[in-house]
Amino acid sequence: MKIIIVNGPNLNLLGEREPEIYGYESIDEVNEWIKNHDSCQNLDIEFFQSNSEGDIIDFLHQKRTDVDYCILNAGALTHYSYALRDAITATQLKTVEVHLSNIYKRENFRKTSVIKNVCIGQFYGEGKQSYITAIEHILEKK
Ligand code: DQA
Repeated sequence: MKIIIVNGPNLNLLGEREPEIYGYESIDEVNEWIKNHDSCQNLDIEFFQSNSEGDIIDFLHQKRTDVDYCILNAGALTHYSYALRDAITATQLKTVEVHLSNIYKRENFRKTSVIKNVCIGQFYGEGKQSYITAIEHILEKK
C-alpha cells in the first residue's frame, strides 16, 4: 500500500519551533521514527514537506493516481485554505488529517479545520504518535 505523508508550512522547523508544543525532534527524526514503526513495515511511504500552498497542491495533483492514501498535516493551512480543501476533493485522494498538537485546546482560530469534512479521519494531540494513529486507522479500513 502506498501512502504519502505531507507536512505543510513551518513543519520543517520541528524540534526548534515551540518544542513544548510540537516536540523536540526534527522532521527527519520524526519521519525516520514513522518509517521504522511496527505499524508501517508493509507500507510504501513517501514523505513531503513544503512551506508553499501551491507546491503542496501540485504534489497532491502529481500523486493523485499513484497512491492509496494521504496523511496530511497542513499546518496553519488547515484553518483557512479552501484551495487545499478543493485539491483534496479534486484529486479524490483519501486523506487523513493529522496534527501534533490538540488544535481544539489552543487559540480559537485553530479550532476551525476547513479540510476536516473532506478527510476520512482527523487525529490530533498525540505528538508524532498522531501520524501512527492515522496509519492504523487506514490499516483498519483496508
Ligand atoms: C499543527 C497545528 C496548526 O494549528 C499549526 O499551524 C501548525 C501545526 C499541529 O501539527 O499541531 O503548524 O498542524
